[in-house]
Amino acid sequence: MEISLSRKLDLESGREVLLLPLAEGALAENQLFAALDRSLDGALARAAAQEDFQAKSGQALVLNTLGKVAVQRVVLLGLGEAARVGAERRRRMAGRAAEQLRRVRAASVLMVCQAVPGEAFEPAREAAALVEGLNLALYRFGKYKSENGDKPPYAGPKNVELLVTDDKGKAAGKAAEIQSAVERALLVTTAVHTARDLINEIPQEMTPERLAESSAALVEGIPGLSCSVLDEAAMEREGMQASLAVGRGSYNRPRFIQLSWTPPETADSAEHLVLVGKGVTFDSGGLNLKPGDSMLSMKADMSGAAAVICALTVIARLRLPLKVSGLISAVENMPSGRSYRPDDIVRSFGGVNIEIGNTDAEGRLTLADALGWAVARCGATRIVDLATLTGACMVALGVQTAGVFGQPESWRDTVLAAAAATGEKCTALPLDEDLADDIKSEYADVRNTGATRYGGAITAALFLQRFVKDTPWTHLDIAGPAWTDKRRDYAGPGGTGFGVRLLVRLAESLCRG
Ligand code: BES
Ligand code: MN
Ligand code: ZN
Repeated sequence: MEISLSRKLDLESGREVLLLPLAEGALAENQLFAALDRSLDGALARAAAQEDFQAKSGQALVLNTLGKVAVQRVVLLGLGEAARVGAERRRRMAGRAAEQLRRVRAASVLMVCQAVPGEAFEPAREAAALVEGLNLALYRFGKYKSENGDKPPYAGPKNVELLVTDDKGKAAGKAAEIQSAVERALLVTTAVHTARDLINEIPQEMTPERLAESSAALVEGIPGLSCSVLDEAAMEREGMQASLAVGRGSYNRPRFIQLSWTPPETADSAEHLVLVGKGVTFDSGGLNLKPGDSMLSMKADMSGAAAVICALTVIARLRLPLKVSGLISAVENMPSGRSYRPDDIVRSFGGVNIEIGNTDAEGRLTLADALGWAVARCGATRIVDLATLTGACMVALGVQTAGVFGQPESWRDTVLAAAAATGEKCTALPLDEDLADDIKSEYADVRNTGATRYGGAITAALFLQRFVKDTPWTHLDIAGPAWTDKRRDYAGPGGTGFGVRLLVRLAESLCRG
């Protein structure tokens, strides 16, 4: 997808589709709408009235121009109430617009990004939001679909011309800023596509070894970004018994993946941000086998890992002046005669003995090793982990929102602020010390499950907290938003790539100081 900026509405450019987002309110007062309506001899206003198009959020109206102007189709898109229009509304609207483009397999598009009356309009931000929504929604996991007929799968428009306007003249003179924001949007959303590819790949293929190979392949050719992998023997030597226990039951052997981005000049900071991703390539539950329905989508149990890998490729491509590492303890959780068992006690990297209450609480065991490594080996000054960790978090917040825990709260809030800018929904949850009793162990240092189901997302977070010591750390439980069964605005069905965008934004925010 190539994006260019245009200065005025040019209906003779021969674009196939014009996308015109509008907020609720008198359409005729919108100058672009009015100008377009005049060129179409009033057909636009008539169609809008007859089809009851009021620019409500989610509404769309397609009008074929029947040769009146060179642009073949006009698509009016509803942004909803003016007071609520912002970057996320635009992202979602653009996501729905992508479906209209797909329907007609449009190769060239003219997309309008205009300020809504009374809005705090940031031209670069709003333009980027449109590009993000569009590109994210164009994603398909088509690898296993046999091509039928002569049509190759639609890959989105080749050319998108963007017209950014507002009546206060804010967009004027900002072409360079807007262009760089939309280039960044393309880079980031393409990385989200890659994350989705990793997640959606079938679990038979996406084994720990393949995840490690994919990481190595993705960093290839990006200067300053490296990938090193420990195999099972090396993990054994390093004492990562917790991860090895989880992986023991599977034919597919564990890997420990370490990515590092070292900027050419570290802008006078000794900061080292370490991103940890849960990389369970398939979670059957192990001997505490999940029921069949709960096992569906458990190929997405490496969504945290995918987000970390793909965010790092963007961070390195943007050459951000901040040292950032990524750690993934990749395992498959399977039942077999070699599996780890309930009542086993395993020793984490860093020497904490963990009693196994349930082999399906495996994610926290692999994270225990990776978090310990982040502290002791990387010398992390800040840690963020992303993990599809608990069904309890989905019960608490629904499937669209990540639960966010952290110490100190200021660091957690920095992560929440980055997330807020991306539209990736996150809500703070408490590290309630009173629940720590729940994961006390009779025989070992800690237990991997709580005594009850209650507060399951919190007890999981409290478990992780033991392994980060005093290092500033934020944990995102992404069990809900990592996956969607249904298409939703600009994601799915399938892996969403949740976290890539907020991690990149977070790293950028740390560079701005
Ligand atoms: N990977 C699951 C969590 C999960 C569930 C992610 C549903 C996405 C959708 C995790 O490993 C798990 O099985 N957690 C258990 C923990 C329990 C045994 C304490 C859970 O949530 O039931
Ligand atoms: Mn599990
Ligand atoms: Zn899991």
